[in-house]
Amino acid sequence: MNVPMISIENLCFRYPNTETNVLNDISLTIDEGDYIAIVGTSGSGKSTFLSILGLLNKPSTGDYLIAGKNILNLTNKSLSLLKTHEIGFIFQNYNLLSHLSIFHNVALPLNYNSEVKRAEYRGKVIDALEKVNMSEYIDRKPDQLSGGQQQRIAIARALVNNPSLILADEPTGNLDTKNSQKVYDLLAKLNKAGNTICLITHEIHYASKAKKLWHIEDGRLLNQHQTLSINQEQIIPDNPQQILSIDNQLTAKHFVA
Ligand SMILES: Nc1ncnc2c1ncn2[C@@H]1O[C@H](COP(=O)(O)OP(=O)(O)OP(=O)(O)O)[C@@H](O)[C@H]1O
Ligand SMILES: [Mg+2]
Repeated sequence: MNVPMISIENLCFRYPNTETNVLNDISLTIDEGDYIAIVGTSGSGKSTFLSILGLLNKPSTGDYLIAGKNILNLTNKSLSLLKTHEIGFIFQNYNLLSHLSIFHNVALPLNYNSEVKRAEYRGKVIDALEKVNMSEYIDRKPDQLSGGQQQRIAIARALVNNPSLILADEPTGNLDTKNSQKVYDLLAKLNKAGNTICLITHEIHYASKAKKLWHIEDGRLLNQHQTLSINQEQIIPDNPQQILSIDNQLTAKHFVA
């Protein structure tokens, strides 16, 4: 039997010094090459969930296994190697450093990767910039670029260590429709090239293009079938495409923040 890339079992999470769980009894698996999208109202726990997937927080209870290994049994060194080599984060507000050139911004994660020598930095940065069609901007500063271009630079930075898993938290939240489309096209291209993607978005139209769509409500994860039953739909069609399209209508009505 194939071990899933990620397996989460009965995960609960509570922030320190707080009294209630932000995430409740979440279980899911993510296979290599998956493209999952998560939608949910503001405050429902989406970013918190992504922070756990990205190893920035640990579950309060329950298990998180990567390639069959429980992260609670890994040393801090193994965890930071996983973070550096296997996970790329993309945020809504790009988080580029304004005083650094595009080259130095994209090169930042290489500083944490002891396998890459200084002499290799330029080649790696150019490879990452070419994936997002931005190599000609390598010597500019972030404030000399548009919002859409800055987000593509942030995506290049997430890709520079060739991570297998890309976590994107509302990556188009600050972008217009045209630039959003470019970012989603890029995510689809990366997924086709073999990257596993977990996307958080409020844009249902784009979320529905992912291979799997989940909702988080009050810290609980619901898949399409559960969403349908919660909304008292009588008929669950056999064709997943139909599920998705019904789901989109429900989502549009019930889940947009
Ligand atoms: N560091 C923290 N300490 C305590 N509570 C927190 C912390 N960060 C977030 N929370 C709480 O956890 C809950 C979930 O927050 P989270 O940021 O995961 O929501 P979200 O679904 O990403 O919302 P949005 O769509 O607005 O980004 C919220 O009630 C929030 O107030
Ligand atoms: Mg959030």
